[in-house]
Amino acid sequence: MTIGDMDSTMQTVLARAWTALVDAAAEPGPFSLGYFGTVGLDGAPQVRAVIIRGADVEAGSVVFATNASSAKVAQLEREPRAALTFFDSEAQVQLRMTGEATVTTDDHPENPYAIVDLSVANVDVLDMSGEERQRYGFTRDGANWDGTALPA
Ligand SMILES: Cc1cc2nc3c(=O)[nH]c(=O)nc-3n(C[C@H](O)[C@H](O)[C@H](O)COP(=O)(O)O)c2cc1C
Repeated sequence: MTIGDMDSTMQTVLARAWTALVDAAAEPGPFSLGYFGTVGLDGAPQVRAVIIRGADVEAGSVVFATNASSAKVAQLEREPRAALTFFDSEAQVQLRMTGEATVTTDDHPENPYAIVDLSVANVDVLDMSGEERQRYGFTRDGANWDGTALPA
């Protein structure tokens, strides 16, 4: 992850967000449970809870497992753009991500599972822990991240 061009506050915010995701994938934590949004086959939004299994800072990706025959897999094959939102109620931090998902299926007949890998293009961090809310938006281009403060 190349975050050197951002100011130090934003570097810290982004690094903390990814660290929290990597930790949450390794063992249960505040960001283990996310809400994954897709575009339904009829164009309507669809959101469901998922447990993240991996996060890769360098690749900018977040991974979870699902059933290969689930509706979300068919939806992603038609429209890979997707969103993933987390909330850490203790830290009072919301983390929102959008990007494009790649689905890898395993056709094992008894357990047809799929791995969904969200290649994250945008991250939105809303910190509600202080008296004033802080919000930051980040965009990724390859290994480079750019960040800006946003109106909360
Ligand atoms: C706490 C919790 C964790 C869940 N984790 C996953 C998960 O990791 N992967 C998954 O596919 N579904 C998970 N589900 C079920 C989904 O929310 C959803 O019901 C299911 O995947 C079917 O969604 P779909 O029909 O939109 O594909 C979880 C549900 C709950 C309540």
